[in-house]
Amino acid sequence: MSQGTLQRVRFGMIGGGSGSAIGGVHRMALALDGRGELVAGALSSTPERARESAREIGLSAERSYDSWQELIAGESVREADDRVEAVSVVTPNHSHFEIARACLDVGFHVVLDKPMVCDSSEASRLAEAVASSGVSLTVTYNYSGYPLVREARHLVASGAIGAVRKVFVEYHQGWLANDLESSGHKQASWRTDPAQSGGAGALGDIGTHAEHLTRFVTGQAPSELCADVRTYVAGRRVDDDASVFLRYASGASGVLTCSQVCIGAENGLTLRVFGDAGSIAWQQESPEQLVFHDANGKRTVMTRGGDGLSRDAADATRTPPGHPEGFIEAFANIYRGAIERVRGIDSSLSRFAPTVEDGAVGVRFVEKCLSSNGSWVSLSD
Ligand SMILES: NC(=O)c1ccc[n+]([C@@H]2O[C@H](COP(=O)([O-])OP(=O)(O)OC[C@H]3O[C@@H](n4cnc5c(N)ncnc54)[C@H](O)[C@@H]3O)[C@@H](O)[C@H]2O)c1
Repeated sequence: MSQGTLQRVRFGMIGGGSGSAIGGVHRMALALDGRGELVAGALSSTPERARESAREIGLSAERSYDSWQELIAGESVREADDRVEAVSVVTPNHSHFEIARACLDVGFHVVLDKPMVCDSSEASRLAEAVASSGVSLTVTYNYSGYPLVREARHLVASGAIGAVRKVFVEYHQGWLANDLESSGHKQASWRTDPAQSGGAGALGDIGTHAEHLTRFVTGQAPSELCADVRTYVAGRRVDDDASVFLRYASGASGVLTCSQVCIGAENGLTLRVFGDAGSIAWQQESPEQLVFHDANGKRTVMTRGGDGLSRDAADATRTPPGHPEGFIEAFANIYRGAIERVRGIDSSLSRFAPTVEDGAVGVRFVEKCLSSNGSWVSLSD
């Protein structure tokens, strides 16, 4: 990866406090390349915990804020060369829209986790806010940051597997196979509360990752879908499982499944794409390999960092082959893209960093799945 000269981007973080699931990952990803620096935070929903969380990670007391509103107000009045330039929003889904829009309104770039917002109305309004603010918004669909996912995209785009016929994508977890939320488990509780999750369960939480990964690699979005959406755990108020048939305008078809009740599954995200001249297969839990079959069925196992991979894959690669990279590095590629976007640098990293439009497609996909009830619905109306 070319490092070039790039001035560090000053970040604030909202959410992601002590004990959160993904806040620490965002901070590692931000820090990995030394191109971003966390200087301010409103890290928790309660002031005491926000301050304690800030102390734990060495944020100055002066720039540890008791609420996200105070962070925006406090940073906005600092000198331009000192205030935050971008804010990472790492809170439960229901607060994404309000916080992200407030950041955009004062000219802070935004990095926002998925699902981007709770409905298409919020997504449209956020896209308008991005357009009128002149700053950027990047959604952390982090699985698209893996070097071999970039290679998979390159192979499909360059015609190596011919015209896409079939896609199979699955994202299976097992941690919600039982009524974990009734034990008070924090992450399970808000994810299964429709008021905080945004209405969807597994579909919003991991189905959106599967949708984006497939669209990123194939370069195509489905035009129609037919979804069987289920809630297996008694009393649960959101979906915990979905099986979705996909049809594409190109004539391709596919199946997306996402489930959080598959006992034994951890983060089983797998993508297979079959074309009329070959196929590719990639698994998130073995991300250093990409399997390619050519038209004669000859199998090639590509390894990250290996000879002959595309520039896009090389741009996303840090360590030599055989020195494993993983989740943090892929996440950091999204951050690197966001940072280059903030600095106006055109690169594969900035071009591939998911946008507000990508976030909106994910939100719409979830809505359409929830309204399908086993019937085909169009994604274009
Ligand atoms: N990209 C990924 O791989 C990935 C993985 C996990 C979670 N996520 C997403 O990240 C977000 C956070 O999920 P999580 O599992 O880390 O949640 P969490 O419950 O573990 O942590 C949420 C944090 O946000 C804080 N918070 C809540 N409301 C706040 C507010 N109004 N102001 C400031 N802080 C507030 C909480 O105190 C907590 O520290 C969600 O949108 C989730 O979908 C993404």
